[in-house]
Amino acid sequence: MGVEVSVEGLTKSFGSQRIWQDVTLTLPAGEVSALLGPSGTGKSVFLKSLIGLLRPEQGSIVIDGTNILECSSKELYEIRKLFGVLFQDGALFGSMNLFDNVAFPLREHTKKSESEVRKIVMEKMELVGLLGAEDKLPGEISGGMRKRAGLARALVLDPQIILVDEPDSGLDPVRTTYISQTLIDINAEIDATILIVSHNINLARTVPDNIGMLFRRHLVMFGPREVLLTSEEPVVKQFLNGTMIGPIGMSEEKDEATMAQEQAMVDAGHHAGGVDDVEGIVPQMKATPGMPFRQAVARRQERVRHIMHTLPENAQIAIQESLDETSGGNGGGGYDYAYSQEDTQVIPAYRGEGYENTTHGQG
Ligand SMILES: Nc1ncnc2c1ncn2[C@@H]1O[C@H](COP(=O)(O)OP(=O)(O)O)[C@@H](O)[C@H]1O
Ligand SMILES: [Mg+2]
Repeated sequence: MGVEVSVEGLTKSFGSQRIWQDVTLTLPAGEVSALLGPSGTGKSVFLKSLIGLLRPEQGSIVIDGTNILECSSKELYEIRKLFGVLFQDGALFGSMNLFDNVAFPLREHTKKSESEVRKIVMEKMELVGLLGAEDKLPGEISGGMRKRAGLARALVLDPQIILVDEPDSGLDPVRTTYISQTLIDINAEIDATILIVSHNINLARTVPDNIGMLFRRHLVMFGPREVLLTSEEPVVKQFLNGTMIGPIGMSEEKDEATMAQEQAMVDAGHHAGGVDDVEGIVPQMKATPGMPFRQAVARRQERVRHIMHTLPENAQIAIQESLDETSGGNGGGGYDYAYSQEDTQVIPAYRGEGYENTTHGQG
């Protein structure tokens, strides 16, 4: 199974510009998590910090027992081998065909023979649905295919942690769903820890086991999908519904006057946009039939059951319904998972700056 990534009190600035502060979260081992937030909130900066490409000035990032902010460069090199990363643009070499692009990490970091390399590359090409496109150059294929190729390349070294920066950017909704399905299937197949950075609501609602939300330099909340999808926290609710009504504005900081004006518009019958008619816990995407059962689901649901009593009553009812609906598919539920206190993490982290956190009174 993938390894846990534990972030505590993380703060990052560039010069005098504070990007985010005091971010604390744990990516549960072998589960899919998504970090959401409006553009420019520092999602990519967070992702790059996790692999040690950027250096936060405070806090810790513990991976497999090592705090990567304090370890030697040799240790960091070893830790990095656990990662597969899909950057926002796919970052393929333009002059190499897809086969050579995907083979690159294997040829660079291993001593595998060419026939072994071929076997692995073809396996990953198949997993991302690119068989037959090996000879194409990145310039000859669609953005969606480039993303897939980038993903295949991120997978060849059998990573235990997979970071994916905006898998949906530049893709239409259907192709976004295909790549989401691929990520779910990868998790089912190799039980890797996956972090997806995105601002796509559809993806956020249907793909990850856990959701985090960055806003105004803080991690507003991080926890299992059941909790975030039933949250009354204004930022979370607005974002997951994609409406104009709420603290998030066109420029990130919205003032009270604008909020009142928009509310008045909506009260007078104006459509605030978004999808608030599908509130609540929508079904999560499942692995493609024939794939192994996704172990992460049962582990997450177990965690949710343990924190249920701390949540508002409405949320408890909705969550219970969704657990009842999905627990039938757990294949008997005989999974092996040691529950630990650290895992029960829902962070109502952000209080203040003009609105109350109404979700979690006292934990
Ligand atoms: N290497 C860098 N040096 C200075 N500022 C940076 C650097 N990388 C990102 N930033 C700034 O950090 C902020 C967050 O950027 P980013 O993480 O790309 O946002 P997101 O991915 O959420 O859209 C932006 O204001 C950006 O200009
Ligand atoms: Mg980004």
